[in-house]
Amino acid sequence: MEPDPGYDPFSDAVMADPITAYRELLAQCPVPHHDSFDPPFWSLTRHDDVAAAVRDTATWSSLHGQGPRHTSQGGLFTDPPEHTAFRRLLQTAFTPRAVAELEPFIANLARELVDAVAADGRGDLHTAVAFPLPTITIATMMGVPPEDRDDFKRWSDASVARLGSQDPSAHDEDVAALYRYLAAHIDDRRSTIAAGGDPPNDLVTGLVRAEENGATLTPQEILGSCVQLLVGGNETTTSLITNALWRLMDRPELMAEVQGNLDLVDALIEESLRYDAPVLGLFRTTTCPVSMHGVDIPEGAKVQMLFGAANHDPAVFNTPEEFRLDRDPSEARRHLAFGAGPHFCLGASLARLEARHALRAILGTLPNLRADGPSERITPFLLWGRRTLPAAWDV
Ligand code: HEM
Repeated sequence: MEPDPGYDPFSDAVMADPITAYRELLAQCPVPHHDSFDPPFWSLTRHDDVAAAVRDTATWSSLHGQGPRHTSQGGLFTDPPEHTAFRRLLQTAFTPRAVAELEPFIANLARELVDAVAADGRGDLHTAVAFPLPTITIATMMGVPPEDRDDFKRWSDASVARLGSQDPSAHDEDVAALYRYLAAHIDDRRSTIAAGGDPPNDLVTGLVRAEENGATLTPQEILGSCVQLLVGGNETTTSLITNALWRLMDRPELMAEVQGNLDLVDALIEESLRYDAPVLGLFRTTTCPVSMHGVDIPEGAKVQMLFGAANHDPAVFNTPEEFRLDRDPSEARRHLAFGAGPHFCLGASLARLEARHALRAILGTLPNLRADGPSERITPFLLWGRRTLPAAWDV
C-alpha cells in the first residue's frame, strides 16, 4: 500500500476538483484518513467497498446521522428494522404512480422557467431554472403556497449548508425558521383533519393521515421527515441539472450533439450522475472495529461513503475519466449517485424526471448554448454542484 497522499477534503484543490483527488485515492489509498476535522474521519472510495458497506447496516450504522458530526435525529437516520417502517410511510409519496402524476406540472414549470429568459440571450441558468424547479416542485408537493416559496427556499438551503459547514451555528436562525414554518403547517393540517375538514391532498396531509390511522409518526417525526425531503432533494437536483450543463458547455461538440438530438438527454443524466455525483459522500458510524486495505478503523468512527469516488472506479467503469454518452446502459446505471441498499434515494425517479424536463426545455429552446464566464462551486464539501452557471445563447 502506498502512503496516504495527504488527502484533505476541505483543501482548495479538492474542493475545486474532487474527481482528480478521488482518482489518486482509488489508485493509491482506498481508505484515506482525515484528521484535521473534529471528529477525524475515514473515507471509503472503492465501488465494491462503498456498495457493500451501505448494505451492511449492522457494521456501518446511520444512527449517528449522515453528516461528519455525531447527531441523533431518529426517523430515516436509523438502521433497519426501525428505518424500514419510517421509509414505508414516506414511500407512498414517491411511488412510480405518484411521481408520474407530477409529470405534467414539472414539464409545464420547466417550460415556463426557460421561456421567461429565452429572449434575453444570456443569463444564469442556475438562478433561472435549475434552482427554482426542484424547490417549487417539492414546495408544491408539501402544499406550501406560492407567496411563501422564497422564504422556504432560503431556509431549506440553510439546512443543507449546515450539514457540511465548519461552523454550523451560522445557519441556526434560518433552520429554526424552517422548523417553525413546517411545524405550523403540520399543525394546520392536523386541526383541519381533527375538525372533520378536508385538507388538500398533499405530502404533509398524507403523513398526518398516516399518523391518524394508527401508524406511529409523531408531529416531531413528520417534521423531521419533511426536513429530510427538503435537505435531500432540493440542492441535489439543482446540482444534477447544473453539472450536466456545465460539462456540455465545456465540450461544445457534445453540446451540439445533444442539442441536435434531445433523446440523448437520458444518457446525459446518467453520465452526469456518475461523473459528477451531486452528493459526493455521506457518513456512517462504525459499530465495531473494522480493518480494510490495511487500515484500522476503530468502533464509533465516522466514515464517509464516497459515492463520487466509487463512480470513477476503473474496476467497474471503462475509461472512468471520460465523460461519455455512449456507455452501455447497464454499466452507466451502476453509479452510486443515489446510494444503494436500504437508504437508496427515495427521490431518485423524481430527480430524474425533473432533470429530464429541465434539460430538454433548456437544450431544446436555447440554441448554441455556451458558457458566459466562470461558474462557482456550491460550498458544502460533501456536495458537488454549481452555485452560478452564466450562459449565453442565440436569439
Ligand atoms: C439528483 C438528485 C439527488 C441525489 C444525487 C440524491 C442522493 C441521495 C443519496 C446518495 C442518498 C443515500 C443516503 C444514504 O445512503 O445515507 C439519498 C437518500 C434520500 N434521498 Fe435523495 N438524492 C436526490 C434527490 C432526491 C429528491 C428529489 C428527494 C425527495 C424529494 C430525495 C429524498 C431522499 C430521501 C428521503 C433519502 C433517504 C432515504 C432513506 O434514508 O431511506 N432525494 N439521496
